[in-house]
Formats: sequence, structure tokens, C-alpha cells
Amino acid sequence: MNRLSVLLSTCMAASAALFSVPALAATPPHFAIQGDQFLLDGKPYVIRSGEMHYPRIPRADWRDRLRKARAMGLNTITTYAFWNVSEPEPGKFDFSGNNDIAAFVRTAQEEGLNVIVRPGPFVCAEWEFGGFPAWLLRTPGLRVRSYDPRFLAASAAWFKRLGQELAPLMSTRGGPILMMQVENEYGYVGNDRDYMEAIRKQMIDAGFDVPLFMSNGPGPTWMSRGSLPGLVSVINFTGDAKKTERAFLRSAPMMHDMPKMAGEYWSGWYDRWSEPHKTRSTEEVTSAVGWMLDRGISFNLYMIDGGTNFGWMNGANNDDAKYLPVTTSYDYDSPIDEAGRLTPKYGALRKVIQAHLPKSEPLPEPPASSPTMAIPRFELHEAISLLDALPSLSKPQTSLVPHGMEAFGQNYGLILYRKRLDADTKGTLDVSDVHDYATVLADGRPLGTLDRVKQEHAMPVDLPAGSTLDLLVENMGRINIGPGMEDDNKGITSAVQVDGMDITGWTVYPLPLDDLSGLVFKADAAPDDPAFWRGSFEIANVAGTFLDMRDWHKGNVWINGHHLGRFWNIGPQQTLYVPASWLRKGRNDVVVLEMQPGGSHAIVGLKDPVFGTAAQ
Ligand code: GLA
Repeated sequence: MNRLSVLLSTCMAASAALFSVPALAATPPHFAIQGDQFLLDGKPYVIRSGEMHYPRIPRADWRDRLRKARAMGLNTITTYAFWNVSEPEPGKFDFSGNNDIAAFVRTAQEEGLNVIVRPGPFVCAEWEFGGFPAWLLRTPGLRVRSYDPRFLAASAAWFKRLGQELAPLMSTRGGPILMMQVENEYGYVGNDRDYMEAIRKQMIDAGFDVPLFMSNGPGPTWMSRGSLPGLVSVINFTGDAKKTERAFLRSAPMMHDMPKMAGEYWSGWYDRWSEPHKTRSTEEVTSAVGWMLDRGISFNLYMIDGGTNFGWMNGANNDDAKYLPVTTSYDYDSPIDEAGRLTPKYGALRKVIQAHLPKSEPLPEPPASSPTMAIPRFELHEAISLLDALPSLSKPQTSLVPHGMEAFGQNYGLILYRKRLDADTKGTLDVSDVHDYATVLADGRPLGTLDRVKQEHAMPVDLPAGSTLDLLVENMGRINIGPGMEDDNKGITSAVQVDGMDITGWTVYPLPLDDLSGLVFKADAAPDDPAFWRGSFEIANVAGTFLDMRDWHKGNVWINGHHLGRFWNIGPQQTLYVPASWLRKGRNDVVVLEMQPGGSHAIVGLKDPVFGTAAQ
């Protein structure tokens, strides 16, 4: 036994004694690390994992998707734990419904899969604020992913509560959880050992007594910054067999005497608004997976089923200080598509995996692809202007100068800043900073927009005294990785000036839009400013569908009260996925918040998604 295995078994024995939770299975799988092998029940074990995120797939579909993953030849599912969905307000935890990570893990076990959990606290994942709760930003100056005691106190509380959900599911106690990851690709951003050690300790204190590991970009630089002595280091990368070989060769000095694993092999990629749709070729992916299987190298396909960034949950990148929000779809060109259909990539990977398994281990037959359906065009006849709806949506607050929404206790959605101008106001209106998309209105008339993606923050205005200036700002998703995360308060984060003079004395309307039941729609209204539109369609049978939003501009869609997410005609995503479980036989109600006037205010449902620019 090497030092690592001794350490792990001592630690496991010690913590097992601490817990008196009843075991789930008579003989828990015994997972251990010995030299360069993972061992399950004493036998060498190659982890064939796929990543699937429980908030990105409606709970009703978890079992189906996990069964499909198993039938492709995987023996393990990896998921992050998403802090922001489970602690929406400090100290208020919610593990119900789609947030029920323990139920997800148990379902995986029932479907014959082991599980790896990556509880962060930072998860990246193209997820709002990298998984951090937005309320962390209510504390000015707090540094996430650091030894800042305010941050560490918050993450300790999160891990402690998460431990109540997951500790009984450790493989040491009969559950399917084999390993847990400490932090996430920390080597890309820092090298503070004290911070990493603190996170490791918080995980052990939470009862996570299985082997812990760290994942980083390949090669000594990132790996040495993001590793802890005594922990297995895995690498994240993509490419064909050649690139895979190079990634492992470069990383070899840091992976001495430990099992080799691709902690994330990117089997596709994600989309950002305004950019072309991303895919990754099946040949590239199968050649890499075949190469790893030939050598008994463990892997985790990121993603096996990407799913959807429902609601407000997409993250954003900040490449060279250019803000780029991630689309609502997180299809990721993954083997199982956003609608639960088996793609050619799925079939090809299943073949490669089957070819590497002994004849005595035939893979289960894959379940059928989930059906999708078309819905004939339906009109949204009723509408109400957002400004008219303000009283039913928001309790205004006053503020001398504008602040981000966090200062008003708001996490997600839109926020409106209103000022009745005391004097004639002519010049350049400068909003610093617009986070992220502002519609500027005077007396309810749209004057223009300021889009952070285009780095816009100023426009000319010429308004008489007594005009009401409204700045309606949408939070398009907080930065989920790298520099700028802590500075990504949403709304207006600094000052509003006209020709260098501060405008002060604002009325602020937080618009989280988590309850639209108070909206009073009017039939055949035709607002020409940001407005909610409502319509319905009837169906005899229920199946998934893709709402075609190409006749609209920019906004959000809710169906039967479920917030599907954002649409934006700049693409590449042009359709919004609707899961079957959110539909019902008979009438289905659709509400669209459209930020711009014009358009047809009608929708059709398509059997397949459309990706492309507005012109395509
Ligand atoms: C990294 C992160 C993941 C995800 C992928 C890209 O590997 O660890 O969370 O952001 O990149 O999709």
C-alpha cells in the first residue's frame, strides 16, 4: 500500500466510526485507490463516467436519462452540487424538487450507476456565478474562491448542510458515491494552498469520507497550482486520440503513482449568445475514448446529457474583459441531446465501449429516444406593458445613486431604475456599468438599448424637465469563471450621468419575476414597449417540443408557470426546449416577456431545435 492508500483507508475508517447512519446496501461497494489503480471490491476498476447536472434536466426525466447513460456503457455519473439553487437565501436551504441531489444520486444507484459528486463550492459549469449564490455579492469586497473568512464561513455552512443530504450516500455507507472533487480547476486561477486545504477540511467535516480528488487543466503548471499532496489529480481537456495522448504525457510527472483519469473529457461544447453554434465531431470523441479504454484510463464525458439552463441559470464568460453570456440551451452537442434523444455520437460511443468490454458484459438495450412533437402556430393575443405591470411585480425602494440588484436583496431577473427629471436634460447619457442589457425609456417610449455584449454604455438624450427616465436592466447571467466574478453585481453598478453630471434620487423596482400571477392581461392590446404577451395552445398528447422564437427579438418565456429561459434573435439558439413533463393534455399557457416592439407575437413548436444567426 502506498502513502495515499494508507491515508485514505485510515481516514475512511476514522470517519466511518463517526457516523451511525444505516447502510443502504448489505455489502457496500468498497472503493479504494491503490498505486495507479482504482479498486472496486478489491478489483481494478476503470471509471467510465458521464456528466449530467440534476438542475438541467427536469426531475421527471432523471431516471430515463440515467438509464440511457448506463445503456451507452457508462458505469458512473458525475454531477456538481449547485450551491446557488439549494441556498437561495443565506441559511435557507431548499433541496426539494429539481434541487434534490440525494434523490438524483439514489436514482443513479437504482439504475446501476456509481456516482462522483463535485460539490465545489465553485463549479464553473457555465452556471450562474459558477454556482455561487448571488447573495454573496451583498457583502462588499468579499472574495470568492479565497481564504476570505466571510467566504469560508458561507461555504462551511453549505457543506455542512449538503453533508446531511449526501453523507449517507457515500460508498463507505452503502451509497453509490465513490469519490468527491475538491474545488474545480483551481490551478487556472490561484495557488493558495491554505484555501484548498480549508475546502478539503470542510468536505471531510461534512462527512464526505470517500477519496477526494482534484481536477485541473493538463500539464505541470495548472496541476501543480491546483493540486494538494496526497490527493489524486485528474485532467480536463478535449481532442482526438493524439491530443489525449499528449495531455496525459504532459501531465505524467504530476500523476505519478496514481490512477489516470480524464476528469472532464469535453465531448461537445457550449454556446454563447452572438457566436456560431458549437459542435465536436463524433470521430474525434470516439478516437479519444477508444484510446483511453485501450489503456484502462478512467474518464468522465463532459457532458453525457447537457440539458438546459432553465430560468435565469446560465452563466457568462469574460474573455479579455468581453462579457459573453451562455445560451439557455446547454445541449453541448452531447451524446444524449437536450430533448433526451440518442444522437449518432451516442451510438458510436456505445459501440466503442462495448468493444472494450468482455463478452460476458453485454450492455443493456438503450431505451427509445424521447419523442418530440410539432405544435401548430398559435397567437399570443393578450398583453400588458411591463411599465403598466410594475405595481403587481415589485415593491419600489428609493436610492440616492443606483446600486446593483444585490443591494436591494435581489438575485436574478430585471431591475428598473426610475427618475423624474427636474430640469431639461440634454447630452450623453452614460450608464456605468450596464450589467447587462438596458432598455432606456422616456415617458414609456423606448429610446434605445445599451448592450454589455457590445460594450455599449452611452447614448444621446434630449428630454424636457418633468420627463420620466426609466432604465430597465436585465441580468443576463453572472460570470462563471475567472476575473470579474466578484465585480459582476447586476443592474447598474456605479453611476448614471448626463454629460458628466450625476443623476441622483432614483426609485428602484426589483423585478425578480418569480411570480407572474398578478399580471392583468388585456385582450388585443398592442404595447410598443417591453411587454408581457400571453397565449395558449391545446394538445391531445404530450411530448417535448422546441418553441420557435424567430419572430421575436429578445426576452424570456414561461410555460404553465415554468420559466423556460431566455431567447435572443442574435442566436445561435433560436428555439427554446420545452420538456414533456412541463406540458399537459388540453390547454397550455404561454407568457412571453418581449423587450422590443414589433414582431408577429405568434409561436410554433418544432420537432427539432434551430441554431443559427438571425438571418439563417
Ligand atoms: C471546465 C469546467 C467545467 C466547464 C467546462 C467547459 O472544465 O470545469 O465546469 O466549465 O470547462 O464546459
